[in-house]
Amino acid sequence: MIIKRNFPNSRLRRLRTNEKLINLVSETSLSTDDLIQPLFVKENLEDKEPIESMPNIFRFSSDSIIKEIEELLKNDIYTIALFPVIDESKKDESGKEALNKSNLICETIQKIKKSFPEVIVIADVALDPYTSHGHDGIIKDEYVDNDLTLDVLTSQSLLLAESGADIIAPSDMMDGRIRAIRNALEEADYKNTILLSYAAKYNSKFYGPFRDAVKSASNLGSASKSSYQMSYYNKDEALHEVAMDINEGADIVMVKPGMPYLDIVSAIKSNFKVPTFAYQVSGEYSMLKLAINKGWLDNNVMLESLVSFKRAGADAILTYAAKEISKEINNK
Ligand code: PBG
Repeated sequence: MIIKRNFPNSRLRRLRTNEKLINLVSETSLSTDDLIQPLFVKENLEDKEPIESMPNIFRFSSDSIIKEIEELLKNDIYTIALFPVIDESKKDESGKEALNKSNLICETIQKIKKSFPEVIVIADVALDPYTSHGHDGIIKDEYVDNDLTLDVLTSQSLLLAESGADIIAPSDMMDGRIRAIRNALEEADYKNTILLSYAAKYNSKFYGPFRDAVKSASNLGSASKSSYQMSYYNKDEALHEVAMDINEGADIVMVKPGMPYLDIVSAIKSNFKVPTFAYQVSGEYSMLKLAINKGWLDNNVMLESLVSFKRAGADAILTYAAKEISKEINNK
């Protein structure tokens, strides 16, 4: 049906007469239920320390992270994504600290779930916080070896599930990891552990501040993750990745980075109709925050950017701004 939209029958400004009317007909909404706060936890740290390239974002000790989560809960943010910052002395070629049962991340998850059983904990699966070369997998003959890495990621996932993680989030982009991890979880009777696949993760320079935050930047040096992360020239390939991950047992798929990749979010959501998350990554956050702090951009650009994810079809958003935006939403 084609409706003729002629002036003055149609005056689109009628519905923009005041704020209440604008809200009444708004097509999307953003609530605290849509927001996930990424948090960094660091060992041998007192209290917390700022991350220079990420304004207002901190590395927390395993004690101070509890206080931070308490504050998040007060603001109705109940889902967190955890990233460990490991002592340099514990990093090696194979990232074996990832498989230490009492490593920082496993102990932190246990502690969080003990204090706040209601918090939904997302645990990242990849080896980059643990390897001396900063890659997400194991290197053999100067190549990040897919199948060798799968074995380690599977063991890492089981440990995280055992520690109490609700959602396991492989961010490494190895082929077949969802199937390998799903099979292992089923076999070990973790039938309700959720798999959030970083299905379309691009080889992006927007991850820069994150690599500072977890101190993997200098380990990685000028090396590139282009043999496993996707090329940003591609879109069909993202749909292919998602199709495979759904088949292999992913419950939720994710696109990363966010703002420059909203076309990918939209294509995935409309093609597959599955729960789709997007990650507003460190570089996107810092870029906006820096301009806001300088007074060059209005504070509202953060909210505006997050609403654009919802418009594109994201069901939830990982964003470093989750806490501050939740305060704005709740004070409205
Ligand atoms: C690594 C990982 C990265 C991020 C999350 N997990 C960086 C990378 O792939 O090098 C980036 C998140 C961000 O930039 O905020 N497995």
